[in-house]
Amino acid sequence: MNNIFDSHAHYTDKAFNDDRTEMLGSLKESGICGVINCGADLDSSKASIALSEEYDYIYSACGVHPEEVDGLPENYIEILRELSKNKKCVAIGEIGLDYYWRQDNKEAQKRVFEEQILLAKELNLPIIVHDREAHEDTLNILKKHKPKGVLHCFSGSAEMAKEVLKLGMYIGLGGALTFKNARKPVEVAEMLPLEKLLLETDCPYMAPVPMRGKRNYSAYIPYVAEKVAEIKCIAPQEVLDITSKNAKELFNIK
Ligand code: NI
Repeated sequence: MNNIFDSHAHYTDKAFNDDRTEMLGSLKESGICGVINCGADLDSSKASIALSEEYDYIYSACGVHPEEVDGLPENYIEILRELSKNKKCVAIGEIGLDYYWRQDNKEAQKRVFEEQILLAKELNLPIIVHDREAHEDTLNILKKHKPKGVLHCFSGSAEMAKEVLKLGMYIGLGGALTFKNARKPVEVAEMLPLEKLLLETDCPYMAPVPMRGKRNYSAYIPYVAEKVAEIKCIAPQEVLDITSKNAKELFNIK
């Protein structure tokens, strides 16, 4: 299969320290045409940009993940603004809310999420949203600001997906769709128009079945495409073609 676009990866993660160069050098031969490498804090955002400058098919997103809001420098938005001027930076992300991780700093999470949405709007960039057990607040903030972007590793219901679609945003699905106990992601895939779907790894995490538990990487995306194809009754390559086109449109990649 080819035309594989991974809309959410973390290749700066230490899980790739031993063989990063070798692996990234081989991805194009595996049919990968594009990767969005996401930052999670200021350091990984910088590293993400450096990586995207090294590989033509890798693009970067800069942002502060909700788990990283503690101890942010006051001028973090200025730092992100400067980083985002890089030609290969195509999004602000990953940003959002994570109430599974922590419930005692919800206000700080919301503030940092909203400040980064405003930055994305100022720069006319899409956002990449992380929402874990914070569906209601995430949706309310998105409704308030109406940014362009994608809800990555979408874990909400089909009902919530409808609200996301009304906002014109995309939904990202990955390995969780293939898990044996997957119910909500399957229902979301059933109702979602293919034109609003992005495929992703979130690597090194979330490897799809039959690779579940292993270190994930972009060459496993076809397993997710096969599951979508089964649900939509079309060919896996068609799923890859459409989702690759979607990603290029959202991230403004020529
Ligand atoms: Ni991620």
